[in-house]
Amino acid sequence: METSLIIIKPDGVQRRLAGRILTRFEEKGLAIVGAKMMRIPLELAETHYEAHRERPFYPGLVQYMTSQPVLVVALRGKSAITVIRKMLGATFGSQADPGTIRGDFAISDGYNLVHASDSPEAAERELGLFFADGEVQDYEMHDTPWVYDTSSDLR
Ligand code: CDP
Ligand code: MG
Repeated sequence: METSLIIIKPDGVQRRLAGRILTRFEEKGLAIVGAKMMRIPLELAETHYEAHRERPFYPGLVQYMTSQPVLVVALRGKSAITVIRKMLGATFGSQADPGTIRGDFAISDGYNLVHASDSPEAAERELGLFFADGEVQDYEMHDTPWVYDTSSDLR
């Protein structure tokens, strides 16, 4: 089981797509294990995206991410990090394939609705940035025996 950090960005909240985006992850079989709405503090946005600090789009990205509230969600499931990145589609809305979240709902390259961790290392780091100890829940989903084949290991 992997846990990934997603952020429904300000455009996702403002365009009232938060519910639809979360629904797609739930329908896939991912479990919501943490959630909070917040206005991202400047310093947190800068840290979250520090790998991009030297990129020309960085100031605009930080401005965008701190401009309005976001919905921060921790999602858990088998291969969750890879599965979620595939569900997002390519970074630029104009290039994302139909059927992906960005492909279906975004045409902008910068305003692309949702962030998701891109590796296990990034997920661990980002979960630690946005959630305090105990805010990500460990619990049993009652439908696990139908969402997964539990005859041996979860598969
Ligand atoms: O979000 P993702 O991991 O797909 O892309 P990224 O390369 O890590 O970039 C982070 C975010 O910066 C993107 O989701 C875009 O919102 C923004 N960005 C941009 O505005 N212009 C670019 N040329 C690249 C990224
Ligand atoms: Mg990224």
